[in-house]
Amino acid sequence: MSTGRTIVVGITGGIAAYKAVNVVRAFVLLGDDVHVVATEAALRFVGKPTLEAISRNPVNTDLYEGVAQVRHVAIGQSADLIVIAPATANSIAKIALGLADDLLGNTILASTAPLVIAPAMHTEMWNNPATVANIATLRERGVTIVGPGNGRLTGSDSGPGRMEEPDTIVQAALAALDSRRAGSAVPQDLAGRRVLISAGGTREPLDPVRFLGNRSSGRQGVALAEAALARGAAVTLVAAHLEVPVPTGIGVHAVSSTLDLQQAMREAAASADIVIMAAAVADYRPAAVQADKIKKDVAGDRLSLELVRNPDVLAGLALARQPGQLIVGFAAETEPDDLLRRELGRTKIQRKGCDLLVLNRVGWTQGFATEGNEIAVLNSAGDIVMEASGTKLSVAHRILDSIVGTMATGLHEVAPAS
Ligand code: CTP
Repeated sequence: MSTGRTIVVGITGGIAAYKAVNVVRAFVLLGDDVHVVATEAALRFVGKPTLEAISRNPVNTDLYEGVAQVRHVAIGQSADLIVIAPATANSIAKIALGLADDLLGNTILASTAPLVIAPAMHTEMWNNPATVANIATLRERGVTIVGPGNGRLTGSDSGPGRMEEPDTIVQAALAALDSRRAGSAVPQDLAGRRVLISAGGTREPLDPVRFLGNRSSGRQGVALAEAALARGAAVTLVAAHLEVPVPTGIGVHAVSSTLDLQQAMREAAASADIVIMAAAVADYRPAAVQADKIKKDVAGDRLSLELVRNPDVLAGLALARQPGQLIVGFAAETEPDDLLRRELGRTKIQRKGCDLLVLNRVGWTQGFATEGNEIAVLNSAGDIVMEASGTKLSVAHRILDSIVGTMATGLHEVAPAS
């Protein structure tokens, strides 16, 4: 069935161009009318007949073909969405400058449709200040940047620069289209950012049937994931025993113990722009996990458990942070006095080495499994930068406002790692 949408897929000259075929295919399967605009260089990496067969439309490359139909502007004007995959460092520079020396440049300039860019290049090129500045310019203009991922590159090297997977690109593109249609009621200030969130409560096994756990339901972490998704982010949720459903569009890694959570967070943090540790993590775990169920007739009337300290996941992530990555911790305190609680928060953020700390009060009837929350956000100096109360979703948006504000200042980039 046709969606009635016209999607332009721009392909530039990088080895990842072969993967762009799957981006084209995904839109065609959705029922979109897909028009490929490939640069000359792109066609050295992927064949025109392949792209024409998959897109079911002629592939456009030459600025001087179809001049009678004023094609250099017609393609851009007809587009509901433009997706550039892969976008090389060179093409990103050209788009940032507004150059129109080929058909793709003209198409982009002539269009008012949402523009989604999936960069692909070697890590050095991605980290080059010129590329960093060009990407910042494009983000400011509301362009959605998807990826790049962190992984194996064309040579034997690996790192950030790998083109994001086609499915992820298509999902981000559809989200950009949706938010444009919705009149961007929610700001798209996390468009193209990768946000990693832990949520829920860990369980430390004692034997095959028992564990030590905590009362976290995961509601605040899931609300953060939902809010970040709505603001255009690609969201990964490391989920420890959630009691609430996760909205579609969020990548979920289910974990159980603190050590599982630590491993999942470490791996995913390698390619995240923002890391939020909302999970309630057990500070101790049983020194030994019994292979069989603990029996009363063996244990007797009193049973002592020996516990050992778990690693501090948040402090470890802060120490190993990627350049420019922003790390947010949570602190649930039972201290009823506001000032004393803030003092605890101030000490905690300094101990953890994170950029922001969300402080909330918990108790027998407060904080857990409830719909609302009341929080204060502290910066790395321990000063309160924001206070909010309301539903967990509205609080999540306020927390994201603080995160976006901190990223805009760039201050976290010069913050000491510990
Ligand atoms: N956290 C963590 N690893 C742990 C314990 C906590 O990553 N082993 C994280 C939590 O996810 C939260 C922050 O650290 O983001 C603060 O958690 P909290 O339990 O308030 O602090 P603790 O370091 O455990 O300090 P204490 O319980 O002694 O107050």
